[in-house]
Amino acid sequence: MSAQNVTVIGLQWGDEGKGKVVDALAHRCTYVVRYCGGANAGHTVTVGGQRFALHLIPCGILHSHVHNIVGNGIVFDPPTALKEIAGLRERGVHVEGDNLHVSGAAHVVMPWHKLQDTLSEAALGAAKIGTTARGIGPCYSDKAARTTAVRVADLLDESVLREKVLRIVDVKNRIFAALYDAQPLDAQAIAAEYADYGRQLAPLVCNTSAMLRRAVLGGERILFEGGQGSMLDLDHGTFPFVTSSSVTACGVPGGAGVPPCSLGQVVGVMKAYNTRVGAGPFPTEQDNDTGNRIRERGKEYGTTTGRPRRCGWLDAFAVRYAADLSGVSEIALSLLDVLSGFDEIKVCVGYRKNGQDVEDFDPVGLDGVECVYETLPGWKEELTGCQRFTDLPPAAQRYVTRIEELVGRPVGLIGVGPGRENTIIHLTRVQGLS
Ligand code: IMP
Repeated sequence: MSAQNVTVIGLQWGDEGKGKVVDALAHRCTYVVRYCGGANAGHTVTVGGQRFALHLIPCGILHSHVHNIVGNGIVFDPPTALKEIAGLRERGVHVEGDNLHVSGAAHVVMPWHKLQDTLSEAALGAAKIGTTARGIGPCYSDKAARTTAVRVADLLDESVLREKVLRIVDVKNRIFAALYDAQPLDAQAIAAEYADYGRQLAPLVCNTSAMLRRAVLGGERILFEGGQGSMLDLDHGTFPFVTSSSVTACGVPGGAGVPPCSLGQVVGVMKAYNTRVGAGPFPTEQDNDTGNRIRERGKEYGTTTGRPRRCGWLDAFAVRYAADLSGVSEIALSLLDVLSGFDEIKVCVGYRKNGQDVEDFDPVGLDGVECVYETLPGWKEELTGCQRFTDLPPAAQRYVTRIEELVGRPVGLIGVGPGRENTIIHLTRVQGLS
């Protein structure tokens, strides 16, 4: 029943170009579903020369017939969502209750979550995680704590919302004053503001997991749109320098409310090199001219925060781990064009630690690893005009083939530029891409 479905996830530290792959697939899907994270995500899609940066709204919104689902696993930020919706409408995109559905069970990012994110990061100083300051971690913490959580459905009942906000703000104000000497939040004002958001959002709120299960049973085609990247996964990433949700394909059933067999084919999106925003281990990082060159050619600045991204060579050992974890069936390789101009290109094929080869990638044991690099010839030609695999210079073809060998999956798509048209269809077997 899931043969047609497709799950698109990131295989690195986020920003792999998932938006473009989702956009390419969305026209053949009935549902596009976000299941993890929140407004920390930044999915960029360029359509007809227009650039859209989406944070909370699924990328399927740019296709008129698609039902876009913000699933129960999302932490939903009402003012950010409403601003994004207004921006899309201004640009002529239809966004109404008939094509955008928000789960009543999704948790709400409240002002105290953003405040706590900022205050706790500042207090950590050099030990900070480098979060996006969108309140993601504090909101998921309250979800796990249960008694201090607010869900989207709560926004729809003003008296329920007011009671919760007054009670929770009382707790938060005491914590913030004690820990950070912070000014108290105004509970009444927050209750009124969020009740107003509830009124605006009401037409969009529903039981999205029931809707999706019906779609699964009915054989409708669903696309699950991952956020962030596998190395930022709360359980399987480089903890504690991770985000606070399950971002791999393993997170889909819980975050969308569908059975595990609904995932369909899993497309793993990866860049032709590695980047990371925020703190934490990054074995192949090039804090030098190589990294700077990649950053400038790849415009590697955060979609959500504008921060410069840390850049380095491709870590194929880590990508293989992520691909195995999510049962990836094929790779979408993005930004190959950024590597034009290097004489040589390095790929990390494994790690050594304490003088020994590391057998299995272990996110818990990255301290002190040394990368084992393979050096491949570079190419000088710009790739953006290439339309077929055979149009690529031989060295670029060889690089792609080596990635397939190292990651153990075929490369289905190759991104050579920002537009929908700058994609080489290579070995994909996903319906809608081939
Ligand atoms: P948080 O998700 O805002 O708590 O941030 C935790 C870590 O995940 C930080 O290193 C962020 O830079 C990183 N992060 C969160 N979302 C994204 C994303 O969409 N792309 C890249 N990095 C992200």
